[in-house]
Amino acid sequence: MNDYKLIIEILKKVISGANLNEVVNEYKNEVNYPKIKSITYNLIRYYYSIEYFTNKLLTKKNPNLDLIIKVGIYELWLTEKPEYAIINDLVEYTKNEFNGLQGVINAVLRKFILQKNDLVEELNKDYKLLYNLPDWLITKIKEQYKTQALDIFKSFMLPPSFGIRINPQKITQTEYLNKLTNENIDYTIINNKIVINKAISVQKIPMFNDGYVSIQDIAAQYLLDLINKNDIKFKNVLDACAAPGGKTCQILENYKCILTALEVNKSRLSRIQENLDRLNLSAKLINGDATNKKWWDGYKFDFILADVPCSAIGTIKRNPDIKIVRREIDINNFVNIQREIVTNLWDLLSNDGYMVYSTCSILNEENEDNINWFKNSLSKFKLIDEIKILPSANSDGLYYALIKKG
Ligand SMILES: C[S@@+](CC[C@H](N)C(=O)[O-])C[C@H]1O[C@@H](n2cnc3c(N)ncnc32)[C@H](O)[C@@H]1O
Repeated sequence: MNDYKLIIEILKKVISGANLNEVVNEYKNEVNYPKIKSITYNLIRYYYSIEYFTNKLLTKKNPNLDLIIKVGIYELWLTEKPEYAIINDLVEYTKNEFNGLQGVINAVLRKFILQKNDLVEELNKDYKLLYNLPDWLITKIKEQYKTQALDIFKSFMLPPSFGIRINPQKITQTEYLNKLTNENIDYTIINNKIVINKAISVQKIPMFNDGYVSIQDIAAQYLLDLINKNDIKFKNVLDACAAPGGKTCQILENYKCILTALEVNKSRLSRIQENLDRLNLSAKLINGDATNKKWWDGYKFDFILADVPCSAIGTIKRNPDIKIVRREIDINNFVNIQREIVTNLWDLLSNDGYMVYSTCSILNEENEDNINWFKNSLSKFKLIDEIKILPSANSDGLYYALIKKG
């Protein structure tokens, strides 16, 4: 099928609320999958700017043409493909799909080329256009982060960072860094964690298939810092919102314990098993809901990880569709489910047991405000430590709270 047809299919689904990563993944067997992925992700990353240009140039609305123009503007503005080739290909595509309308595509895209510099200049008047974020999120981040807000907005426009997690059961960090150097793969070390400077395909990551390393954003690796810094010991662990199992495996690679991995979404359970198999680890997997106890055998846990569902605002670099699908009202809905999950899990935690509450959101509502709410509503709740990582070129944004019962 024509690549443009696939790209427009994906964009339509994402704009109506589907998850970009899941939708793009459905096309992974297409010959031009890398190109399709790159265009859709980047177009969504720059969506509000491209929408602004489109609305200025396509004065008479036409839903059939709208996305074709957006793809054309994206390519003309942000790719190296020659202008004549972009226009030819899109005119041809339109002729096949909506014969009679190709003249409009030709005219609008040529107008964009002529006005491009002035239009791009206009983006500076508005953060929404410059950083491609919805107004409600800009306001919230400005209120909560003051002088740090601008760096956060800028970080959201960067490509996703590429963290590597070492499996200490198989290799030391020094040995693995030597391996990277020998293979000419540039890396940076941030707080003792490895970031590959330029994204590479999974197949090219040395020793990945043999389970020596995993791909994990370095922000997600701070779980270990929190546990080690506070010298937390445990034997019987519940990972309550476990898929795809990044932190499940991280715990099992580093600590001797029995671990139960709970996940509400049955289809995502297999992702945990795949990761466990690759790393030669084992856990008890349960398909169940952390807001109830139907799945629980009655034995308490001395450590619970509540890596709760959240708005994922800290991962916008990686999941740019959040910019266009997330609504302000969603934050309240996430807060409600987060409270429901932790309240239910609290009964499963033994006295003197520890819980790590974590989100990949940077919004106070889902983090510090929730911790205050827990403090007031759960008995024997004691906040021991917190780590917040703000999104940057090297990592996503994440929040962790270490809590003790008793
Ligand atoms: C932030 S992700 C967890 C990431 C995981 N801890 C890791 O490090 O790979 C949240 C997970 O919680 C699951 N989830 C959402 N609601 C849940 C619930 N009520 N009970 C259990 N799991 C839930 C989601 O399907 C999703 O897989």
